[in-house]
Amino acid sequence: MDVLQEIKKEHDEFRTLIKKIEDAKGSQKKELFEELYAKLIGHHESEEHVLFTDVKRKSDEKGKDVVMEMIEEHSLAAYQFSVIQKTAIDNETWDAKFSVLKEVLTHHMDEEESELFKQAKKVLDKEE
Ligand SMILES: [Fe+2]
Ligand SMILES: [Fe+2]
Repeated sequence: MDVLQEIKKEHDEFRTLIKKIEDAKGSQKKELFEELYAKLIGHHESEEHVLFTDVKRKSDEKGKDVVMEMIEEHSLAAYQFSVIQKTAIDNETWDAKFSVLKEVLTHHMDEEESELFKQAKKVLDKEE
């Protein structure tokens, strides 16, 4: 499986997990949220260390902008994760905060699968 297919597969797992979190309650909701956090942080780190670095290095200005926007969205997601982690699961704002995180992540994954994948296919050869 190539790296782009691997990323797409993980994105689909995240989409499923986000849905599960929305449907869950109490301690189960919290556990699923922590699972999403752990997996996503690892996912973002490996994207930044491997794919983003290679695409950015080989891209023109416009391609570099795509990568830099993806990195900023990782930061935005990390910030919203930290806000939610400081919020008790029974706090009335928890769902609203999670909903904002969902919007950021959904937008981000969709954009990676369209914009970033397009750029990666353009500048990287098969080996990479
Ligand atoms: Fe990403
Ligand atoms: Fe991703």
